[in-house]
Amino acid sequence: MTSQAAMNRPGKDSIYATQLEKVDSFVFDHRVAEVFPDMIKRSVPGYPTVIAMTGVLAAEYVQPNSRVYDLGCSLGASSLAAQEGITAPGCEIHAIDNSREMLDQAQQRLSSESARTPVQFICENVLDSEISNASMVILNFTLQFIETTQRLALLKKIRSGLRPGGILILSEKIAFTDSTEESLQIDMHHAFKRANGYNDLEISQKRTALENVLIPETLEQHFQRLENAGFSRADLWFQCFNFVSLIARV
Ligand SMILES: C[S@@+](CC[C@H](N)C(=O)[O-])C[C@H]1O[C@@H](n2cnc3c(N)ncnc32)[C@H](O)[C@@H]1O
Repeated sequence: MTSQAAMNRPGKDSIYATQLEKVDSFVFDHRVAEVFPDMIKRSVPGYPTVIAMTGVLAAEYVQPNSRVYDLGCSLGASSLAAQEGITAPGCEIHAIDNSREMLDQAQQRLSSESARTPVQFICENVLDSEISNASMVILNFTLQFIETTQRLALLKKIRSGLRPGGILILSEKIAFTDSTEESLQIDMHHAFKRANGYNDLEISQKRTALENVLIPETLEQHFQRLENAGFSRADLWFQCFNFVSLIARV
């Protein structure tokens, strides 16, 4: 493929490639839904590994006749990985997102009719979701978009909806208390984005759009909140620059 053809390929994220007069706050609308797989793969270091391991963890921890919740499912990548990983019988996946545009595309991508584990697509705010009989809850890069004041209540609800032996996968962009580490990690993240074809204008405009929308917290804050929510332990299983994934256990 020539570089011009690659630039014009369908589904390629070029939302912030032209200079905008005013950069609006980031929203998960139809423009984002159309390019989301390309956007997240080129923006989140380690995203393919986190998704693939979500499937591995589903195979290991999903219990017979239980539910898996994928909160903030976007186009359903984590649900699909879980669906492919689950071996336990009688399970169902609840894929939840409050963006109708994202959920519509998820529904088109995951045909659950012939699948052993069916997926229900639910358009709602995860803060209103009912969680019960769960053996696995997935929060892959979603908690960072929830108001910080609502995060503990959400984790408590997840904890109480999990069965004994159940797990929460929590993947997030994180912040660092040490200001030097914070700026070095951000530099490395931007280097990752440049290596994936984003230019400085795109990086800077996207950063402005995400300000006050994506609120990262430190690892310490995440561990403390998980403990406060009643999880018996939480461990870091993945980190690439300022992106991490934790596994929290009932
Ligand atoms: C970065 S994306 C998540 C990516 C996805 N989990 C994956 O692994 O591909 C964040 C998603 O969370 C959704 N979201 C944000 N806040 C939400 C809320 N309060 N309730 C439901 N969905 C929400 C957004 O619409 C978006 O699709």
